[in-house]
Amino acid sequence: MLELPDYPWNQLAPYREQASAHPGGVVDLSIGTPIDSTPQVIQQALADAANSHGYPTTHGTIEVRQAIVDWFARRRNVTGLSTDDVMPTVGSKEMVAWLPLFLGLGAGDIVVRPEIAYPTYDIGAQLVGATPIATDDLSELTAEQRERVKLIWVNSPGNPTGKVRDTAQLAGIVAQAREMGAVVASDECYAELGWDEYEGQVPSILDPAVNGGNLDDLFALYSLSKQSNLAGYRAAFVAGAPNLMPSLVNSRKHAGMIVPGPIQHAMVVALNDDEHVAAQRELYRARRDMLRPALENFGLAIEDSVAGLYLWCTAGRPSFETIGALAELGIVAGPGAFYGTAGERHVRVALTASDERIAAAVERLNSSANR
Ligand SMILES: Cc1ncc(COP(=O)(O)O)c(C=O)c1O
Repeated sequence: MLELPDYPWNQLAPYREQASAHPGGVVDLSIGTPIDSTPQVIQQALADAANSHGYPTTHGTIEVRQAIVDWFARRRNVTGLSTDDVMPTVGSKEMVAWLPLFLGLGAGDIVVRPEIAYPTYDIGAQLVGATPIATDDLSELTAEQRERVKLIWVNSPGNPTGKVRDTAQLAGIVAQAREMGAVVASDECYAELGWDEYEGQVPSILDPAVNGGNLDDLFALYSLSKQSNLAGYRAAFVAGAPNLMPSLVNSRKHAGMIVPGPIQHAMVVALNDDEHVAAQRELYRARRDMLRPALENFGLAIEDSVAGLYLWCTAGRPSFETIGALAELGIVAGPGAFYGTAGERHVRVALTASDERIAAAVERLNSSANR
């Protein structure tokens, strides 16, 4: 059997149980799962495509590929893509986990991922026997390691930190990756959720200002889970790397990794409609504006968190102590320790709860602070 680490979220069970005993009910801010309804136009699109008797195409219908290309041009300043260079994926998590395999990586190869990161980057490396290295600074790698680096993950806006990499930083990563002969895969699933001065200001790895117009060896991954409340549809895509995409499409054809036809149609409608994304962003903005001061009032310092669906907080003590203190108030948060050793004194608080539940959390945090 493949021996992967235990799924870390199971460790939260006792805290969730404790929080559930709160007389006002639990406020679960641990997992970034959308809770607002899938927009009606997208639900309708799914229903309209319900008659789906034939096999869907792995590379995607021309309509979904065109919608992806148009979305990149309209929303991300990415102009150099053709419909050959994009493909829908079954959510983006599977692509994060399987990309090292599709790239042909194995034992001896190194996969670099952010120092504090979504755990699936490591899992993807482990699935193929490659070695994950956690660093935000490629210059920390030794000469021997640089020779073995085959894939570099970028995650901007970052989960859990909410940190954004600017154009110059991304360009620096691309330049160093090219020196090493490594592929860069940029997981950009929170790109539409920039706050304050970062609104509309989250660059893509595929932006010509980052890569000088050369998309070879550069992948961007994007997901409709967060921006469109489509986590249940498993609707995402990968784009870029025209030198590698034909092989990626071919491997996925053989492996049967196909986005269902009705979902591909729903994606077209979702990608062509910016209005619901803007409306959803306003819901999260309001929740963020409420939660931020209450968490600070409770004694947590909020770091980074300039984009995305999380507030990355620390009380300067181990993750699980803060998780315990929040559980006493009936609030469940995510332990920073799940994202690497550098997160061991942080907790991640998600904005994905109803206005009513967020208001309950705010009231509890404020009254506990004033006690
Ligand atoms: C950084 C990051 N990448 C990928 C995903 C996976 O998203 P999905 O599989 O729903 O597209 C998530 C989900 O939380 C995430 O935070």
